[in-house]
Amino acid sequence: MAILVTGGAGFIGSNFVLDWLAQSKEPVINLDKLTYAGNLGNLVSLEGNSSHVFVQGDIGDRSLVSRLLVEYKPRAILNFAAESHVDRSIHGPGEFIQTNIQGTFNLLECTREYWLNLDEQAKCNFRLLHVSTDEVYGTLSPDAPAFTEEHAYEPNSPYSASKAASDHLVRAWHHTYGLPVLTTNCSNNYGPYHFPEKLIPLMIVNALAGKPLPVYGDGMQIRDWLYVKDHCSAIRRVLSAGHVGETYNVGGWNEMPNIEIVKTVCTILDQLRPKPDGSSYDTQICYVQDRPGHDRRYAIDARKIERELGWKPEETFETGIYKTIRWYLDNPQWVQDVQSGDYREWVGKQYGSVATP
Ligand code: NAD
Ligand code: DAU
Repeated sequence: MAILVTGGAGFIGSNFVLDWLAQSKEPVINLDKLTYAGNLGNLVSLEGNSSHVFVQGDIGDRSLVSRLLVEYKPRAILNFAAESHVDRSIHGPGEFIQTNIQGTFNLLECTREYWLNLDEQAKCNFRLLHVSTDEVYGTLSPDAPAFTEEHAYEPNSPYSASKAASDHLVRAWHHTYGLPVLTTNCSNNYGPYHFPEKLIPLMIVNALAGKPLPVYGDGMQIRDWLYVKDHCSAIRRVLSAGHVGETYNVGGWNEMPNIEIVKTVCTILDQLRPKPDGSSYDTQICYVQDRPGHDRRYAIDARKIERELGWKPEETFETGIYKTIRWYLDNPQWVQDVQSGDYREWVGKQYGSVATP
């Protein structure tokens, strides 16, 4: 038995792989293209662990994906692989269409072919879990109820439109071909190994480097925040107990405006790593031009996954953000490698014998 994880060198995928192998002996085949967001340094603690098989490759590569399925015979596929950054999707949507839509389509087709050839028992037990986002639902007005699984899809950015398209493909492959799929739609994650292009890690590393902390527009956009380990536990729960064909919203019951997030980061850094001149990190905050088409508010109603599968987040924002900042302070080499670009040399330096197509 094994599982195939795609995008397992990214932020959430690597947390998922680390947590999985900390709790289970079931091998993980980790297929990741290693774009700028893929970092094998996240998985360095798995060196020498024969339960982790890393393969550098593209979910859009049909012959590679088909070969991996036949070779490793996974009982489940977890699709984390995606282009994930909204700002990048605004500057260059092409890769988002390619990986998030075309790549998911390819993964579905390869999976369908593989699944059809399984014996009845294996066919019945097989699952494809597609990891998606709350951004597919679009934006909420201040008093609107949080997104339920029934909320209409109204994506507003090239990123969220590409994720919405992938969700629709996954749904259609279930309804038309019977492929046993599960979909999760999660809110904003934060935690260890988060690439510092996203709000929380960017604020931590910029603050420590004495750089400006750029807040888009008025900073009053609202997101729901979930500690990444809680997202990983929700995915494990959906994989083991979710009902085939269903979607599950995953969230932290923790809506906060961006400016409050940034000020919280500054306050914790003031305590843990006070500046030599005694000033607060919040003096580095600066308001910059807003993101085009910026969604004003997301909020997740996570009652279905709690009611049906008994999942709840363990961390509050207070405990999760403290752990996260502590992790960045305790891992300056990881931060430095990411900032210098050295993490991209990791494959050659550290994984000379890695399995490649
Ligand atoms: P990330 O950008 O940190 O990681 C993405 C990973 O996918 C990288 O390792 C990258 O190399 C890999 N990848 C990209 N294109 C690929 C391809 N064509 N083939 C194989 N691998 C490829 O993203 P993340 O934040 O870890 O997000 C993971 C998933 O979770 C995404 O599908 C994202 O849409 C979803 N999601 C993210 C969040 C969040 O807050 N970060 C919230 C909800 C859902
Ligand atoms: O909601 C889930 C989504 O959360 C995921 O699907 C995406 O993959 C993930 O990137 C994230 O999208 P956001 O756009 O919400 O995340 P980001 O960290 O880029 O921005 C969070 C908020 O902070 C958003 O309102 C924009 C704002 N922001 C962001 C950056 C990078 C700033 O004000 N300044 C910044 O420098």
